[in-house]
This record gives sequence, structure tokens and C-alpha cells, in this order.
Amino acid sequence: MSVLRIAIQKSGRLTESSRKLIAESGIEVEQVGAQLRSAAYNFPIELFFLRDDDIPEYVADGVVDAAIVGLNIVKEQEVEARVVRELGFGRCRLSIAVPKGVAYSGVNSLEGLRIATSYPNILRNYLASKKVTAEITEISGSVEIAPSIGLGDAVCDLVSSGSTLISNGLVEVEPVLQSQAVLVASPTLSPNKEEILQKFLFRINAVLRARNTKYITLNTPTEAIPEIVKLLPGMKSPSVLPLNLPGWSSLHTVVAEDEFWEIVEKLKAAGAQGILVLPIEKVIE
Ligand code: PRP
Ligand code: ZN
Repeated sequence: MSVLRIAIQKSGRLTESSRKLIAESGIEVEQVGAQLRSAAYNFPIELFFLRDDDIPEYVADGVVDAAIVGLNIVKEQEVEARVVRELGFGRCRLSIAVPKGVAYSGVNSLEGLRIATSYPNILRNYLASKKVTAEITEISGSVEIAPSIGLGDAVCDLVSSGSTLISNGLVEVEPVLQSQAVLVASPTLSPNKEEILQKFLFRINAVLRARNTKYITLNTPTEAIPEIVKLLPGMKSPSVLPLNLPGWSSLHTVVAEDEFWEIVEKLKAAGAQGILVLPIEKVIE
């Protein structure tokens, strides 16, 4: 019986969300203490808890079959790995930043500068695409302090909230790469493992689709139903139940949460009352 080995970040910005996604997919894994690997009880996967920087290499070498890791790390390491799905969390960007007060008038201002980064490959490709010649200083951590200790004129580092830049007196000037957590897999899996990967993906898809989707119920004068249905995006036939009040109905439908906030005022203006918004756990297509 095959088991799919999946790596996740041991501790860091993706760890909690990765574990949550797996748990919400109905897969139970227990990690005791600093255990490096742990098999799920009710699904044929085994989780490996690894440093994120090591993960693409392990996938490429076949030590693990798949992983949840930042796209930034996959791109930087330029290894053989198939990006199976974007996961919608761990969003951040790799950006070039310069010390506050430095004159900056576009990417040509980087010409001849020394840029400190842990992402030399991505930065090199970016500078080449912009036809800028700059010196890349590779450092493995705490890139944000490089300018203040004379290790560079600028940095190229991950930005999430932006607070690291602010507290180090740096200003973001060029976004280089948009990143988020992705599910990656080895390009060559055995048919058995590929089947497990697809089952895992099926569950993840159901969870991720549900995250931005809400179940809406509302009460409405029956005569207003055609107008309200027109307002509800993408749902041609919501369920309609009669209320125990002549001329009134209850309407049930599913909408994307972003879309809901855009139409809620219009729904009320059209006569909707008692609007309830409920979370959905899974959406199967
Ligand atoms: C990144 C980056 C910054 C910080 C930016 O490190 O190197 O230090 O996050 O986040 P902020 O904009 O919210 O302040 P990360 O925590 O990913 O650690 P790692 O690169 O060492 O894995
Ligand atoms: Zn890291």
C-alpha cells in the first residue's frame, strides 16, 4: 500500500495554515514533540516537517513526493517540481527596497548599486529583464539590516505586512515577484502515488472553494423574488420556501463572500429582511 510523503514547513509563516488546511480536509495527523515525520491515521499520507528552504530540493530528489511551500522558494531554487495548485494563503511579495531618503526614480536608479538578498536567482533574472546592471550580495538571513551595516545599498526581500521594512528604515520601490503557498509535487510519481495526490487535491479543492463562499438565507416579499434573484450573482435558481406568512418567502442560495458585501444594500432595498450569512465547510464541484 503506497503512502504519499508530503513536506510542510516545520515552523514559520506557512506552518499553521498548512496544518489547518490538512485538518480541514479531514486528515488527522498527530505530531509528538519535535518528531520529524508523522503518518496520518485516516488517509495514506505521511507528513514531513522540514525547513522551508530545504523543501524544493527534497521534492526534486524524491525524498518527499509533494510539499506545501512558498512559491518564492520554488522559483528561487529552480528545481524540478510541478506546481499543482495555488493555496491562497501565505501571500507576500519579493520586493526591492532602498533606505528612506535615497532618491529613487524608477528601476534605472538601481544601476550600479549593491543589492543584498537571499533570492539571488530571482533577482538576477529580474534585473536582466529590466536591463539593469547591479551587484548582487547574497546573504542568508536578516537581509533587512544589510544597508545599515554597510552590506548593500538596497535589499531584495520578502514583504508581507511591511513592518520589517518600516522598522529598518527601508522603502519598498519595486515588486519583483508575487508569492503565496503552493502545493508542489514531483514530476514523476508512481501511478499509485499520483492517485493519492489527486484524492488529496480533491479534498483541498473542496476546502478552498468553501473558504470564500457563504450560504445566504433571507426573507422577502414573494413578489420581490424576481428582482432579488437578479441581484444574486451566478445563482439562477435559488431555493424558495414559503413562510408561514402570506405573501412572504424564504430564499436560500450560495454566493462568494466578496460579492455578497457588494450587493447586501441592494438586497435590503429590494425588500430582503432577516439576512443570514452562514459558513460553508466544503464545496464539491
Ligand atoms: C520574511 C522577510 C522579512 C519578513 C517580512 O522572513 O525576510 O524578515 O518576513 O515580513 P513583514 O513584511 O510582515 O514584516 P520570513 O519570516 O519569511 O522568514 P525566512 O525568510 O527566514 O523563512
Ligand atoms: Zn526560511
